[in-house]
Amino acid sequence: MIYFALPGNEELVTSILAHAGGQRGVVEYRSFPDDETYLRVLTDVEGKNVGLVCTLDHPDGKLLPLFFLAETVRQLGASRVELIVPYLAYMRQDRRFKPGEAVTSDLFAALISRFADALITVDPHLHRHSKLSEIYTIPTRVAHAAPALAKWIAENVSDPLVIGPDAESRQWVSEVAGSIGAPYIVLDKVRTGDREVRISFPSLDLYQGKTPVLVDDIVSTARTLITAVRQLKDYSLKAPVCVAVHGLFAGNSYQELREAGASQIVTTNSVRHVSNAIDIVPLLMDPA
Ligand code: R5P
Repeated sequence: MIYFALPGNEELVTSILAHAGGQRGVVEYRSFPDDETYLRVLTDVEGKNVGLVCTLDHPDGKLLPLFFLAETVRQLGASRVELIVPYLAYMRQDRRFKPGEAVTSDLFAALISRFADALITVDPHLHRHSKLSEIYTIPTRVAHAAPALAKWIAENVSDPLVIGPDAESRQWVSEVAGSIGAPYIVLDKVRTGDREVRISFPSLDLYQGKTPVLVDDIVSTARTLITAVRQLKDYSLKAPVCVAVHGLFAGNSYQELREAGASQIVTTNSVRHVSNAIDIVPLLMDPA
């Protein structure tokens, strides 16, 4: 297997090679003066299986280089082109909520399925679709980060109370809490806008003195976690820890979450960020 890093994914390829073996592919990338992409494949791919490693946060600027590289290695004789995408974008607009809206999760999946033979990712945000195969027509494999999150919590947090900020997070928090023998609760969240959420808490009387650990799949604007962290101040618990799979952290949201009162903010390296503390590659490459 030859692994090529799209720009910014070099560390992920290093980690993949250390874990799974294989060869690092070399590509020369540059931009023309008008910002169009130039790339040149410098590794012989004839008859080889190729993995293109490209996490897809901020996807719009990454998609064309990914498409160009996939098509080029195929033209150069690669026998199979697999995408390794730790964070898979465009999963949330999975329905036409208002007339005329683009259902971008389906359109993005159709586009990727046209130029790749297979896709591996970590915990895609499946909501109204239950499986990637409902929108992707190529084989897909999903690695689950819950065991890695659970291990980090067990090793770093004493007496945790695992908290899911909304109904969708139940799948992660129940698994994480179950595997470390910790209690968990799931909050009730209503999103009223891109940056506005309302959260209701159940009674926390049973959990006095515990360390709340908020677990979510994605941090985007961080409004979900900021709102939960602020409201946790009303209870007699320790300062909360925030653990997420994919830390996108739009704008100043990481700083705002710290200022809201999170004692620690921890993410996997599916998206490169200062909060990365959990290596997702072992699960990504060996999901069994
Ligand atoms: C929602 O369904 C997800 O699980 C996350 O809670 C959400 O994407 C987080 O978004 P934000 O950080 O913008 O509140």
